[in-house]
Amino acid sequence: MTDTKEASKEAPPYEDNPQSHESHNSSKVTSTVTPATSKSAALCPRVLMPEQLEKLHNDAVLVSDFKQLKLEKEAQKNWDLFYKRNSTNFFKDRHWTTREFEELKACRQFEAQKLVLLEAGCGVGNCLFPLLEEDLNLFVYACDFSPRAVDFVKQNPLYNAKQCKAFQCDLTKDDLLENIPSESVDVVTLIFVLSAVHPDKMHLLLENIYKVLKPGGCVLFRDYGLYDHAMMRFKTGNKLGDNFYVRQDGTRSFFFSDDYLAQLFTRAGYEVLVNEYVLRKTVNKKEGLSVPRVFLQSKFKKVMTGT
Ligand SMILES: C[S@@+](CC[C@H](N)C(=O)[O-])C[C@H]1O[C@@H](n2cnc3c(N)ncnc32)[C@H](O)[C@@H]1O
Repeated sequence: MTDTKEASKEAPPYEDNPQSHESHNSSKVTSTVTPATSKSAALCPRVLMPEQLEKLHNDAVLVSDFKQLKLEKEAQKNWDLFYKRNSTNFFKDRHWTTREFEELKACRQFEAQKLVLLEAGCGVGNCLFPLLEEDLNLFVYACDFSPRAVDFVKQNPLYNAKQCKAFQCDLTKDDLLENIPSESVDVVTLIFVLSAVHPDKMHLLLENIYKVLKPGGCVLFRDYGLYDHAMMRFKTGNKLGDNFYVRQDGTRSFFFSDDYLAQLFTRAGYEVLVNEYVLRKTVNKKEGLSVPRVFLQSKFKKVMTGT
């Protein structure tokens, strides 16, 4: 069943936009979201037709090593240019965060407890500000690769130093302990961020956030899943590696299987609590298109010492 009103409120355009993001304009895409029809469907990745599998299999040409190195070197610049082009207009506020991640509230041991959150790869704050609006009993650290995105966060009228500390950092390189005390964070949100990181460096990001998480604290994760429509529509010449692609604007995107993600997190010392595919359909009524979207929504815990 499609609930248009609910879906349009819930749907961040980045997820719903079946176009690669450089061509995205939120006013053009009127999309609705259909939840997966059965629970079991969400336990397996999207099933592809033989011709789709063949197309993926035949796309064997990888971007040259030289260009791949350049993309890695210029990753920060490319995200900063993305925010220069789009300012704060690209992503819609993610009001679904508290609804879908009920854990945020459940993380409190007692009702009046102040929760400390790290929004890792916060962009311009589309998760952060709806959360702060809804729940005043939060302190949020927010960081991003792009200095411009961090500036947008700081300029937001809802930003105040009592509730929020935003800073620029490369989560794969800069030690979070420079900005956040060790083991002081209850919850880390990682929303469409790990997919933007080179697979060889993903473990570095997970190890970095591990240091600031309290034992027993959680990472709430949502990102692209294997065979998402955005993956299937990449043309030959954009492939960087297995399930890893580059967009026209130089930003990159990985598409996760549940096993791959679980291994990444367990190797970095986390326990898997939830790790599920979310299958949806994005409907563009204007163009009469319906495309299958695949996301992974997961929850990982930093294991308590001595347990
Ligand atoms: C697709 S956007 C998602 C932004 C935000 N989480 C949201 O949901 O609206 C990916 C973000 O990850 C950031 N990012 C990519 N690589 C990063 C890194 N190594 N360290 C910190 N942030 C990074 C980008 O600058 C960008 O803002």
